[in-house]
Amino acid sequence: MKQVKKVKKPVAKKIVKRKRRRIRKSVVIGFLAIIILISALIFYPKYKTNKQLKELGYDSTAITAIKKQKLTKTIISNGYYSQYLNDSIKDNTLKIEYIDLYTKVSNLEEKDFLLYNRLLDKGYTKDVANTIFNKLKFYEITPLLVFDYQEDISIYINDCLEHRDVNSETHFELSNDYYSEYENTIAVYDETNTNMLVNKTYYLSQDYLPKDISELSVVYAAKGLSLALEAKESFMAWCDAGMALGIRFYAASSYRSYQSQSDIYNSYINSMGQEKADALSARPGHSEHQTGLTVDLASANMEGLSEYKDTVEYTWTSKNCQDYGWILRYPDGKQSITGYEFESWHYRYLGKELATQVVNSNLTYDEYYCLYLKPWNNSEYVYNMADVNQQVIN
Ligand code: DAL
Ligand code: ZN
Repeated sequence: MKQVKKVKKPVAKKIVKRKRRRIRKSVVIGFLAIIILISALIFYPKYKTNKQLKELGYDSTAITAIKKQKLTKTIISNGYYSQYLNDSIKDNTLKIEYIDLYTKVSNLEEKDFLLYNRLLDKGYTKDVANTIFNKLKFYEITPLLVFDYQEDISIYINDCLEHRDVNSETHFELSNDYYSEYENTIAVYDETNTNMLVNKTYYLSQDYLPKDISELSVVYAAKGLSLALEAKESFMAWCDAGMALGIRFYAASSYRSYQSQSDIYNSYINSMGQEKADALSARPGHSEHQTGLTVDLASANMEGLSEYKDTVEYTWTSKNCQDYGWILRYPDGKQSITGYEFESWHYRYLGKELATQVVNSNLTYDEYYCLYLKPWNNSEYVYNMADVNQQVIN
């Protein structure tokens, strides 16, 4: 019995050892499996999103930046990609709220973001604004801020595309009319501001009189003409600078009251009918002349306004007007935006700084004002349909 015990003991020990080894092996395998599983859970999504971003077109530096900027989900779920977006993410210049726009347009500037916001303010949906930016250039979009047209945007887009060969920053024509003249008019709110916009939409009240208005000397103007003080001083300095060079111009018209504008407009209507009258003359209340910040120039050598464009005076004043605070308000080639034919003689005072910015922008003042100055969400701007009926032409 003792011998049998001696033989059986090592066998049992071996079995126990083997069992223990097997258990240890299973624990190690289980442990490894857990590690592999955890690693897979951690690394697979990363691998998968990297693959998806790569498939969209992003390069590895952009993918790292996307992860760092926590944009993975937004980009993958919307399928956003463009080379410009890729590059903007890499150099950390992406403005995430405009990410849609980065897929439609390249080289976005501050003024593009502003214009995009203004379109939204105007009531365009993001989808339509994206389409507009995708198809049109900056100078083709800014007129939309002036026009009240908001129907089928594809009609406007096609009109712009059909005029691509003739249109530019300095010339903008279209086949259709997108300006509902004298509908949805707005009273000018801050009448003391030299920035005020007066056009076929914005109007001055019948009794509006510019403050600080005073008469111009006949050295600078036809007899009995007046301007608001700031404009007057600046106008005289401009005339003096011209005169020193032998360039001689003077104001043939300046401040006009509501009543005198009404007389002028009616005489146009009587001689040429309303459509032509509206292209040449403002209706009463809608003339910049009533602001006291406007002059019509004539050359001392050639009196007629229509001949002004052929004079050395025009060449000089149109080039340097902004240095004295003035702009050419109704430029050649912008009738579809201003609503008026080219007026080589009509200058508007804005002050040197603003006038320079407007000239440099290549925008009409109507566009510039709507883009940069208009308080879009200011409820004090009154949409006054009742006034449309009041602006009756006698
Ligand atoms: N001729 C300009 C548009 C005016 O009447 O004010
Ligand atoms: Zn004028």
